[in-house]
Amino acid sequence: MTVPAIEFKPASRPLSAERREEVLTSPGFGHHFTDHMVTITWTEGAGWHPARLVPYGPLPIDPANLTLHYAQTVFEGLKVHRRPDGGLAAFRPEENARRFQASAHRMAMPELPVETFIAACEALVRQDRAWVPSRPGHSLYLRPFMFATESGLGVRAAREFLFVVIASPTDGYFAGEIRPLSVWVAEEYVRAVPGGTGAAKTGANYAASLMGQAQAVAQGCDQVVWLDALERRWVEEMGAMNLFFVHGERIVTPELTGSLLPGITRASLLTLARDLGYEAEEARISLHDWRRDSADGSLTEVFACGTAAGVAPVGSVKTALTQWTVGDGRPGKVTMRLREALGEIQSGAAADTRGWMREMAKAGHPGRPADR
Ligand code: PLP
Ligand code: COI
Repeated sequence: MTVPAIEFKPASRPLSAERREEVLTSPGFGHHFTDHMVTITWTEGAGWHPARLVPYGPLPIDPANLTLHYAQTVFEGLKVHRRPDGGLAAFRPEENARRFQASAHRMAMPELPVETFIAACEALVRQDRAWVPSRPGHSLYLRPFMFATESGLGVRAAREFLFVVIASPTDGYFAGEIRPLSVWVAEEYVRAVPGGTGAAKTGANYAASLMGQAQAVAQGCDQVVWLDALERRWVEEMGAMNLFFVHGERIVTPELTGSLLPGITRASLLTLARDLGYEAEEARISLHDWRRDSADGSLTEVFACGTAAGVAPVGSVKTALTQWTVGDGRPGKVTMRLREALGEIQSGAAADTRGWMREMAKAGHPGRPADR
């Protein structure tokens, strides 16, 4: 294994246990961060430096930093769940590590070894394990990311990067009870183009999505749905989630064309759905079909899925010209069954027959010496 040694500097003022418990009551998404973070520098010639586990805090940034100007940056999102025995397990972190490599490759950045990515996540989770929520449905969201740290105004790939992992307790992206989402179909803007960066988890894709999401909100909708850039006809994905279309016992998700993100939840649900006896396939789905099949009742449910948001029903669709309801507009039974089945594997309530959960810390793990 090529896992660099971890150098440790404990937080001098970690949040008090009392205040942390207050935060964990209702953490929301992405508002609170744990006491530490992991950083690993990469420099041309030397490669990956030893990892450091340090107090969470600001990173110095030069005004001419290449990322600020040219967006050479990638990120991941994965969750750690507290199991019934108190142990902590991440959902398919190897998949995130591999996608991180693929994203980095597309953005002309160095590829972090899979085992280093996982070791960094594990070190942070062990150190800040008290931050992993224990309430049902709550989890610790890990955000590994990497960006160019070199400065300069010439457009080129940087020769120095920083990989960082931070962690944030969450009770879900869409807070509260399960409410079907209303979606706005973007026909003016596109998120990604063939040959572009749509399949990479890179900041610029999200920047490109903000106007579409703002229009969705202005139209009274929750989320934006993206169509393909060339024909503006094929449904790609929704906001920060992939989409599934349910026809009775058959579920279909837009195929990976290179301009949508290959979601890990998406891939897992394709497998899980087949395990549960559904037919599951990838295909091109047009906006026209979506509307027609909703009208004739053959499309019974639509749902979105992603790490942050889990499985979320889509109840209604709006375009510049029309709007319609999916099914009866309420969360459908296939959506809810898949949501529950995935949730049970993650929480440890159901057997992990496919080996998707990776233990990050055992129950009662004593932590690092400095932390005892
Ligand atoms: N699509 C986009 C644009 C996303 O940001 C995400 C979230 O990560 C997804 C889809 C779902 O991917 P995953 O299931 O791997 O979280
Ligand atoms: C995730 O589901 O991990 C995401 O990346 C969503 C995030 C962009 C809010």
